[in-house]
Amino acid sequence: MPVTKPAPGDLEPVEHASADELRELQLDRLKWSVRHAYDNVAHYRKKFDAHGVHPDDLRSLEDLAKFPFTAKQDLRETYPYGMFAVPRERIARVHASSGTTGKPTIVGYTAKDIDTWANLMARSIRASGGRAGDIVHVAYGYGLFTGGLGAHYGAERLGCTVIPMSGGQTEKQIQLIQDLRPDIIMVTPSYMLTLIDEMQNQGIDPASCSLKIGIFGAEPWTHGMREQIEKRAGIDAVDIYGLSEVTGPGVANECIESKDGPVVWEDHFFPEIVDPSSGEVLPDGQPGELVFTTLTKEALPVIRYRTRDLTTLLLPTSRSMRRIDKITGRSDDMLIVRGVNVFPSQIEELICKFPQLVAQYQIIVEKHGHLDSLTVRVEQGAEMDHAEDARASIGNALGHQIKSLIGVSVSVEVTPPFAIERVVVGKARRVIDKR
Ligand code: DLL
Repeated sequence: MPVTKPAPGDLEPVEHASADELRELQLDRLKWSVRHAYDNVAHYRKKFDAHGVHPDDLRSLEDLAKFPFTAKQDLRETYPYGMFAVPRERIARVHASSGTTGKPTIVGYTAKDIDTWANLMARSIRASGGRAGDIVHVAYGYGLFTGGLGAHYGAERLGCTVIPMSGGQTEKQIQLIQDLRPDIIMVTPSYMLTLIDEMQNQGIDPASCSLKIGIFGAEPWTHGMREQIEKRAGIDAVDIYGLSEVTGPGVANECIESKDGPVVWEDHFFPEIVDPSSGEVLPDGQPGELVFTTLTKEALPVIRYRTRDLTTLLLPTSRSMRRIDKITGRSDDMLIVRGVNVFPSQIEELICKFPQLVAQYQIIVEKHGHLDSLTVRVEQGAEMDHAEDARASIGNALGHQIKSLIGVSVSVEVTPPFAIERVVVGKARRVIDKR
């Protein structure tokens, strides 16, 4: 579809501010946020004091590097409300993110935080090509997860008609898309593939449906997956990034006219990239772990929050603010198999190069004796040659590619179409670690 670049008048002034204007705004807000955390959260006060730093030490943006990091562990230790910087009565809403183990992480918002978040989500949907009057189908889960309500408030704020479908009920999703004719869908990219499969199952050509734009995030996805979705569904696929601890979706969003990585909304979130092991701040353009400091959040300010997401900060293009590259993995979902670091996204990139395969896959890690072994289960496309030997030969070819490009031997099982369990609510589970 032809992409219209927004006229400068369509953007908020800060979206095309000069670098100096943006840095000045950030420094003012950063000073406020660090002091707000210190004055109102005992946990921050204790950590800053132990580290020998005080909010008065923050005179430039670079001074932020003197302050200690915050991690999920801090939120766990102070569960549920200990990191909140306002009295509980001022908390208008909580959300929660599920950890891999143990208790969820509780995050909170004042009424003003929810208002700011709605504005940023409206900005994100606009950057994705959405406009007032569009119909938006929200298939991110509603409830404690930030995806559904975050998307919902943003779409309403932009002036769109919202279909609050939530996740699951795949057949009903298709029925509503057919009948209500939405322009935009907001959903995880893996569930979008499931919706496309279901349309084809029902004899519907996904490319002929009303959807023009998909705003996909909440889990890592590759350029290869973007191409697959765009081609099969005939839409523009745009990347949205965020995490509950920092606010939820809409921390960063890609611009449809450039599709060159989500723009970090730097007037509200200050990004850094650090070396995941030493914690040292790295210059823009170098890969490392993404760290965020909130600049305006009242209820739950986070100072130098370690996201565990691995990416690179890129120079501004379509907006005045820096972008992030595709998240290549998390510093904690990295698999080490016989000494080789393997990220699920590297395997996905290779899968997407095979037109006979779809990006529905599982990576199974097992231990045989002392050795780790990897099996990749991946699905064949519905319209491909179903003969068993055809599947075996694609499997061999993929295994060979993984060995030569990633450096690890794997066995590949190419399954018939639809053999891999679909996650209809929540995020795709790519890795099954049986060790
Ligand atoms: O997933 C918020 C969200 C909802 C983002 C809807 C986008 C759309 P959490 O459940 O706290 O919040 O999970 C955050 O998900 O640290 C990343 O590892 C991953 N993630 C989120 N967006 C992307 C993306 C929401 N676009 C964690 N690309 C983050 C890659 C993503 N990973």
